[in-house]
Amino acid sequence: MTYTESVRAQLENLRTKENVRILALETSCDETAAAVIENGRKVISNVVFSQIDLHALYGGVVPEIASRAHVEACDRVIDEALKAADMTLQEVDALAVTCGPGLVGALLTGVSCMKGLAYAAGKPLIAVNHIEGHVSANYITHPDLQPPFVCLVVSGGHSHLVRVTDYGEYTLLGQTMDDAAGEAFDKAARVLSLPYPGGPRIDALAEEGNPHAMALPRPHTPGRYDYSFSGMKTAFLNAVNKMEMKGEELPKADLAASFRHAVVSFLVDKAILAAKETHAPALAMAGGVSANRLLRRMMQSACDEAGIPLYMPRLDLCTDNAAMIGAAAYYRLRRGELAEMTLNAQPALRLV
Ligand code: KG4
Ligand code: ZN
Repeated sequence: MTYTESVRAQLENLRTKENVRILALETSCDETAAAVIENGRKVISNVVFSQIDLHALYGGVVPEIASRAHVEACDRVIDEALKAADMTLQEVDALAVTCGPGLVGALLTGVSCMKGLAYAAGKPLIAVNHIEGHVSANYITHPDLQPPFVCLVVSGGHSHLVRVTDYGEYTLLGQTMDDAAGEAFDKAARVLSLPYPGGPRIDALAEEGNPHAMALPRPHTPGRYDYSFSGMKTAFLNAVNKMEMKGEELPKADLAASFRHAVVSFLVDKAILAAKETHAPALAMAGGVSANRLLRRMMQSACDEAGIPLYMPRLDLCTDNAAMIGAAAYYRLRRGELAEMTLNAQPALRLV
């Protein structure tokens, strides 16, 4: 029996099997992560090796360094995830890997590793969109959450408002016209000379500052649910440059708080508008920026006021991890969507 025939035969059993355990690998950017997930909802093990220390020296992710570090870490994180789950490779039902979007070399490392492992072990392989993974982090955190719902996806590379119509099915409501929210946070942090990654640093510093110290413009966008952050970023940069040229000491906490408030209130207002106008039964958030403390607080009070249930991933599942990839993979598996051995990295893969 060929590999393809064998995994197709397994698929029939897996679609009705009571407990399906998936070993997932994530290598799209600067975390090498592996996890074992049961039925798309339960974390059996979750290992994340962050490369932050390797990139901090350069102020951002260096693609070549990321690829090399993934090559070195893949086997180890997979072994650790299996060990923590007290399972062998033969005992998992299927394998899953992020195939895009992300850095091509980083993605390729993970895709090659899991293709090899799937073929050698004779296990089905599922290819997962990284952004779908972020959305699926909510299925782990909230076992009762089911589509349809509206989701605000805010990561380092994406700022989207989508309607999750079913598992694995999305329609686009709006998106950023320029920078992603995480990217904007990272750039603002750099202007304040905060170390990489900037988002969490700005967030922490902002807790001590006055969010109304500096007024920032709210951009106009073509679509009702679209975003734009480059105008805010430029206004922020210009204001900080002006202060520096005058030799003023930068009130960093106030600046961080003002920038954070401008970005977050924009994100919240449009997400609530979209949820209300599309009569969404619930609103969810996903991606690294959904760890932002002000975003979580403001979105919660706006949802309470609007009477919309809000779902947020637990903090450790907001940023990149493999548990979310295993969750997304489960629903792909249930739909019979297996990857072929011709699977390649898709750096510009879209969700919708
Ligand atoms: O989802 P993620 O881990 O990776 C991508 O898929 O891009 O998101 C990383 C982004 C970075 O831009 C990081 O600065 C931002 O999420 N981020 C935050 C916070 N934590 C992570 N931004 C604002 N506040 C935070 N607490
Ligand atoms: Zn991510």
